[in-house]
Amino acid sequence: MGRQGLYANPVVYDILYTSGTAGEMGAFTQLEMQFAPGRILKGSLWFEPACGTGRYLRLAQKRKKRIAGFDLDEGQLDYARQRFKVPPDALFQADMADFSAAARESNLEPGSVDFAINPVNSIRHLDSDQAMLAHFEQMADFLKSGAVYVVGLSLTDYEYLMPEEDLWQTGRGHLKVSQLVNYLPPEPGTAKDRVEQVISHLTVEGPNKTEHFDDTYDLRTYDTKQWRDLVGKSRLDHVGSFDAFAKPLDGRVLAYQLEVLRKP
Ligand SMILES: C[S@@+](CC[C@H](N)C(=O)[O-])C[C@H]1O[C@@H](n2cnc3c(N)ncnc32)[C@H](O)[C@@H]1O
Repeated sequence: MGRQGLYANPVVYDILYTSGTAGEMGAFTQLEMQFAPGRILKGSLWFEPACGTGRYLRLAQKRKKRIAGFDLDEGQLDYARQRFKVPPDALFQADMADFSAAARESNLEPGSVDFAINPVNSIRHLDSDQAMLAHFEQMADFLKSGAVYVVGLSLTDYEYLMPEEDLWQTGRGHLKVSQLVNYLPPEPGTAKDRVEQVISHLTVEGPNKTEHFDDTYDLRTYDTKQWRDLVGKSRLDHVGSFDAFAKPLDGRVLAYQLEVLRKP
């Protein structure tokens, strides 16, 4: 996958998405406490595939966690390295489907990760079952036995497919940023039956000029069965589904959920 428009603007990405980060971190911390009984939580090693600008890892480090993460996009990682004091080797460039060698080169030891996260649908950038299973296999290698991997994703109900739209508006200093996102659902019976198309229109208003960036990318779709069946083929066990506040789903159908996968 090439470098994508929004991800090619790490400053803008960070401005858009940082505001909700502390709340989401609260949910991750609760899940770590719930699923890591008996472990020493202070100083635990948090690992984030597709970490982008490192907005979660930045906070995790502030909370005395050790951190490691990687992303496909070197520009996002560079931004992270400038934004906070990243320990040497903690952030490296790699693909979720094939990160094992790069992780080892960056001194991440197999069996060393206490807690892993992959929120906001990033895992759906993997475009096949094969790529997802390769990712799970490598995650199982790097997690400690009993440690969990929290994956945040939106599952699809193929009975109710309709286009959706989101608008995000925020700012930092003299910059005003807004992002209009259109989600086009998969098209059953076609080659696009497992693909959601995401179209982003980004507007960045500075003191002297306004810039527009348009970007389109695909995310792979899963209904609950497709997702659970795939997890079932991996070495990770599904041990719970939660809302964005770490409350158990208990049968609720939400637009976004946290799936907790554990290495036995
Ligand atoms: C929605 S952003 C999320 C970043 C970060 N987790 C956050 O929430 O701020 C998705 C990230 O996935 C990265 N990405 C996309 N495909 C990837 C792949 N195959 N392997 C690793 N990273 C990937 C992008 O570069 C981008 O930084």
